[in-house]
Amino acid sequence: MIYAGILAGGKGTRMGNVPMPKQFLLLNEKPIIVHTVEKFILNNRFEKIIIGTPKEWLNHTKDILVKYNIDLPKVEVIEGGKDRNGTIMNIVSYIENIKGVNDDDIIVTHDAVRPFLSHRIIQDNIEEGLKNYAVDTVISAIDTIVESEDGNFISNIPRRDFMYQGQTPQTFNIRKLEELYYQLSEHEKEILTDACKIFSIKGEMVKLVEGEIFNVKVTTPYDLKVANAIIQGSLDK
Ligand code: CTP
Repeated sequence: MIYAGILAGGKGTRMGNVPMPKQFLLLNEKPIIVHTVEKFILNNRFEKIIIGTPKEWLNHTKDILVKYNIDLPKVEVIEGGKDRNGTIMNIVSYIENIKGVNDDDIIVTHDAVRPFLSHRIIQDNIEEGLKNYAVDTVISAIDTIVESEDGNFISNIPRRDFMYQGQTPQTFNIRKLEELYYQLSEHEKEILTDACKIFSIKGEMVKLVEGEIFNVKVTTPYDLKVANAIIQGSLDK
């Protein structure tokens, strides 16, 4: 079976002084998370779409889904984790509890605050997720990436044509993800903030799927302006 996990368990501290976590802020009169969930609903291959949200925002999340006529039996809301991977693993545990997990079940995980992902990106994640243990969505690095270990001097300038910028979705074979995650020490769990890194440090291949430059993550007030410009641009067409 194919599941979607919408990661909405963050507090959005880099968004500054706003009344609610950024996933609930409005974009063209609709909460960002609703735009995102709608993209997943349009793909009928998902058995369930499960949202992980902060405990104190559980009711609010359910309320806005009702308000925007989201198909509730198909979309479920559960409590997120203390970090991003914790939210993914809460969703995975929930799937284990309600449905059980088979060897070929996959989960397409996606940041709630990337509302512009395309149908093509979701399809590519599903196709590659059925063939590989892990999939990451990336775009070629636009700027040269400069590495500095001390923040003062350059330690390395990797070849730009080997560099990519990570986006989401990230798609995983659920069994393999559980197997690798529960082997990690508490320290490893703290430093492995990217779920694909859990696979790569254990020597597992992570397949790349091409993202889109417009699949932006809303992180700062500036990003919110960019997101509004993108949505306005698509409405003007
Ligand atoms: N996320 C999550 N559970 C957490 C932390 C983050 O599901 N415990 C989600 C966020 O809700 C967001 C996505 O992961 O959709 C990307 O994370 P980021 O942009 O870092 O979100 P926040 O943690 O909310 O932001 P900040 O770092 O500014 O506090």
